[in-house]
Amino acid sequence: MISNPISKGINGDANIPGDKSISHRSIIIPSISNGICEINNILKSEDVLHTINAFKSMGVKIIEKDRKLLVYGNGLNSLKKSSKEIYLGNSGTSARLLIGLLSSQKFDSILVGDESLSKRPMQRISDPLTKMNANIQTKNGYLPIKIKGAKLFPTNLNLKIPSAQIKSGILLASLNTRGETNIIESKITRDHTETMLQSFGANIEIVKKDNKKLIKVIGEKELHSKNIDVPNDLSSSAFFIVSALINKNSKLILKNINNNPTRNGLIIALKKMGANIELKNQRINNNENICDIESSTSKLNGCELGPEIADLMIDEYPILAIAASFANSPSVFKGLKELKVKESNRLKLILLNLQSCGVNCKTENDDLYIYPSKNYNLITNQIQTDYDHRIAMAFAVMGTRLGPLNIKDSDSIKTSFPNFINELNKLGGNIVEK
Ligand code: S3P
Repeated sequence: MISNPISKGINGDANIPGDKSISHRSIIIPSISNGICEINNILKSEDVLHTINAFKSMGVKIIEKDRKLLVYGNGLNSLKKSSKEIYLGNSGTSARLLIGLLSSQKFDSILVGDESLSKRPMQRISDPLTKMNANIQTKNGYLPIKIKGAKLFPTNLNLKIPSAQIKSGILLASLNTRGETNIIESKITRDHTETMLQSFGANIEIVKKDNKKLIKVIGEKELHSKNIDVPNDLSSSAFFIVSALINKNSKLILKNINNNPTRNGLIIALKKMGANIELKNQRINNNENICDIESSTSKLNGCELGPEIADLMIDEYPILAIAASFANSPSVFKGLKELKVKESNRLKLILLNLQSCGVNCKTENDDLYIYPSKNYNLITNQIQTDYDHRIAMAFAVMGTRLGPLNIKDSDSIKTSFPNFINELNKLGGNIVEK
């Protein structure tokens, strides 16, 4: 796609889709609970469809009715062996969570993914599960993965990598494991799994101490389904918020956005940069914090962000880097190692594409430095995305100021935000699909 520059700003009421993390969990957890779950506002994107298809292939009845998705759960041991390999496309969340869940089933499974997912590290989830007696055969640490269903042992696990996907995979495994599994998270990550499990009646206890979190699960307790209202996705909102901040004459309203405190690093960072952002109508629904967000044209300052905030906004660095490119002073974002193992090596692609746009920037020890300038001269307008949706959307926003930018392989946007182009164009963007 080509993202062209705009002159009249980004204005209006943006339609942001349902939260991706919560949508995955809204399929997975009700599928192993008892009862019918009615899901409102689930994200209909490729990643979530892969999770839905995975559970359908394991015998779960999932249907759409009156614009809601209905999941018919029949308990912890109701899943059936899929007659074929389970294909998870680009979705790391589906892979890590399913590896955990399937390792404690009575049947064997094979998980496969697309080219990008097949390059993402899976030992980070198979290693702790192996300590619980899981039988997981990876291809040198990557997909395809063969899982032999096994009776797992309850174990104490101290998680070194800050990852909600690893934590959630283990939590799902522990549900079907007799005894007490203890997980210690030394860096707090998004907590949607724990939150949903608590409301579905799991035997789960959470203690927070300093910056650590201890999660205790006593397994083999059946769960009871509840209806779920999926809030809108802050990570998808981020592209719209920043497009309003960096363009003249812009004012945008985003409604019903998930503002979970384990996910809201972007808002903290942008406010630190002096962004005109207001959170309105703050409320709680389904145990998740929700708000409306108003953002408008801003004079941004650069800022320094330490590694401690990275876990609260890990998916938002590509778009934050775009905001920082239009600030009036330099920024440094520290401790971005995890960005290298996302849908692409995001640290490499942020650097490469900012440099293509003429932005002076560098990385040192996984810290990203951006030195903004008032005017930019493009070196090339070709943006390499390596099929990464967030790199594609971030540089589409860059195109509103510096375009035309040719965003390659932008089809990846369908993994998380199928209507992104229409939505940005409706509000004043000028993106042309090729
Ligand atoms: C997610 C967790 C994060 C995030 C991903 C979604 C989740 O990954 O990057 O987009 O839904 O649990 P990690 O937990 O591996 O950091």
